[in-house]
Amino acid sequence: MHIVYAGADWQKYWLNSLKSDKTIGLVPTMGALHEGHLDLVRKAKSETDIVVVSIFVNPTQFNNQEDYDNYPTTINEDLDKLRKENVDFVFLPKTETIYPEKPELSINFGELETVLEGAYRPGHFNGVGIVVSKLFNIIKPNQAFFGQKDLQQTAIIKRLVNDLSINIKLEIVPTRREVDGLAMSSRNVRLNLEERNQALILFNSLTKAKKELLEGMPWFEVQNQIKRDFEEMPLARLEYFELIHPERFATYKDFDASQKSSICVAAYLGKIRLIDNLPIIP
Ligand code: PAJ
Repeated sequence: MHIVYAGADWQKYWLNSLKSDKTIGLVPTMGALHEGHLDLVRKAKSETDIVVVSIFVNPTQFNNQEDYDNYPTTINEDLDKLRKENVDFVFLPKTETIYPEKPELSINFGELETVLEGAYRPGHFNGVGIVVSKLFNIIKPNQAFFGQKDLQQTAIIKRLVNDLSINIKLEIVPTRREVDGLAMSSRNVRLNLEERNQALILFNSLTKAKKELLEGMPWFEVQNQIKRDFEEMPLARLEYFELIHPERFATYKDFDASQKSSICVAAYLGKIRLIDNLPIIP
């Protein structure tokens, strides 16, 4: 496994891959790798010849300095995990390499910015859009792999690729969960035991709401009941629980079984903010 620190070092490997007609798969991450990330890596290994995993905690997508300062980093463990998966390259840039200067350009994703993560994390998607564009331009992959866990992020990246005619095939990989259902997340390691126990309310509320919706309960009733469930959890604070179209991210007022839909949730457990989602009609 080669570790590459700068785009210039990658260039020669990229030229070789072109000559030998090999496809490149990119898995962008911020490290603190878990099985969810490794599912993306495995998918990339199965679909492309050369797999590049990037590890870069991107400062421009954090709208909360404390979250950035405390973001877990486990680089040695990460590299061990990636070696075991036979990853070909790890792109491990320094902040100055990615941001020799502060970008002046900003990306506005329109409607997608105004709901859910866009509304609650101002500037977040601009930071994601900038860094993913940089990674795409540096690595120049044929395919890139993202997790369904960050559903709105996948919608953002699709917009980026479509609106700018970027010639990269996107693959979305299903959410990997702990045995009890909690979606795997790098931030989970920051939960204390009690917060970890109460964090299960995210997945439980999604599955409960899905069942009730499919049984015919009106959406506003489902939503109100879930809000009450959250109020009973002393360490959990609900930010949103919304029924949305999984690509357009328009929120629905009522459930319509003839339309694609997913439920998205965001909540704080103590100081840690977690998100999850569940498809209702895929
Ligand atoms: P990060 O949170 O490290 O996630 C990297 C990739 O792993 C994302 O595509 C994310 O959706 C996916 N992922 C995370 N948890 C998952 C799970 N439980 N199951 C399946 N996939 C999961 O998302 C980012 O980093 C950043 O925003 C990034 C795209 C790297 C840009 O900085």
